[in-house]
Amino acid sequence: MPQPAKTVRVNLADRGYDIHIGQGLLADAGAFIAQRNNTSHVVVITDDNVDGLHADRVADQLVEAGLEVNVMVIDAGERSKDVEVAAELWETMLAEGTDRKSAVLAVGGGVVGDLAGWVAASYARGLAFFQAPTTLLAQVDSSVGGKVGVNLPGAKNMVGAFWQPHGVLIDVDVLSTLSDRDYRAGLAEVIKYGVIMDADFFAQLEQQADAINARDPQTLIGVIAHSCRLKADVVEADEREESGRRAILNYGHTFGHALEAATGYESLLHGEGVAIGMVCASRLAESLGMIDAEATRRQTALLEKVGLPTTLPAEIDPVEIESLMWRDKKVQHGQLRFVLPTRIGEVQLVDAPKQDDVVSAMR
Ligand SMILES: NC(=O)c1ccc[n+]([C@@H]2O[C@H](COP(=O)([O-])OP(=O)(O)OC[C@H]3O[C@@H](n4cnc5c(N)ncnc54)[C@H](O)[C@@H]3O)[C@@H](O)[C@H]2O)c1
Ligand SMILES: [Zn+2]
Repeated sequence: MPQPAKTVRVNLADRGYDIHIGQGLLADAGAFIAQRNNTSHVVVITDDNVDGLHADRVADQLVEAGLEVNVMVIDAGERSKDVEVAAELWETMLAEGTDRKSAVLAVGGGVVGDLAGWVAASYARGLAFFQAPTTLLAQVDSSVGGKVGVNLPGAKNMVGAFWQPHGVLIDVDVLSTLSDRDYRAGLAEVIKYGVIMDADFFAQLEQQADAINARDPQTLIGVIAHSCRLKADVVEADEREESGRRAILNYGHTFGHALEAATGYESLLHGEGVAIGMVCASRLAESLGMIDAEATRRQTALLEKVGLPTTLPAEIDPVEIESLMWRDKKVQHGQLRFVLPTRIGEVQLVDAPKQDDVVSAMR
């Protein structure tokens, strides 16, 4: 893990873009875009929470930098990741004279990033796309990897594309306005990276838990930069989910998605479902003799230290969760596939464990 620096650059040169992580970076968003794309018109897409907190400031700065700017504000929340919202954005962009030389800048969480990225990918057969992610989840996960898209009723992320950004600008200062719950939910994905591929990073997170809870900017710059690098490494090895390598990112997600579905996508945030799911997956690995109890204990302790849940909500029946897993789009050839740890820092794909073991892992 490198020493924290003021700005950390994660260079994904073979993908044609880079990620800048630091403090106060949004004050220079205009130059960041201008250095990477010779556009004169930027469509800023944001949501109605982030607009007043951060996006309007970014838009002002882009105007000062000499760009023509349109700000388009969607309703905050997952429901905006919808074809109808995308269509409204296409229409507004057309009315504002958006053409193939325009660029799109997403300022917001994963909802804004996924939707704006899909709009950028599809409008006029593809516009230059930039991201300024404002949730921790978006900074460490959804803004890296190029997956963009919208939901269909009952099928999350079903319509979309792979559309790599021209650049990602991660300003840790924006995290100061994020709710505690959303902040912690992002940490679940950070801890996941440690478990699936980097034991040293996991140990570092254990040591830095207090600074992380205090949202110390320098600590966060290091943690976010390393998370982006780890995700980028996986994505690079398997951009389109063909070899199976990218599947390791789903650690904790088979349990997590079923838990989210069982609670109507309302009472549990995605990261909370993943936190519980990681503990369940680790216990399943224990019952298969793949890992010792100490590895599960360390994960549980770290998740709890940063305020994440690690047990199923009392009203949830593990048998129901197991049956919900079969609806996950990750079910392949009629088999349930799990990402299970063999130690902290390494996972394996395991097909079709016994139903009893899966249910017991949740008790
Ligand atoms: N593309 C990918 O690879 C990928 C990966 C993981 C998740 N996702 C997607 O990301 C989405 C979830 O993203 P999310 O958790 O960021 O949710 P989100 O975008 O809904 O943001 C969560 C909440 O925080 C608010 N918010 C955002 N930034 C803020 C800030 N700085 N201060 C105060 N409030 C702020 C938002 O308005 C929203 O109410 C899901 O749709 C998921 O499918 C995509
Ligand atoms: Zn996730």
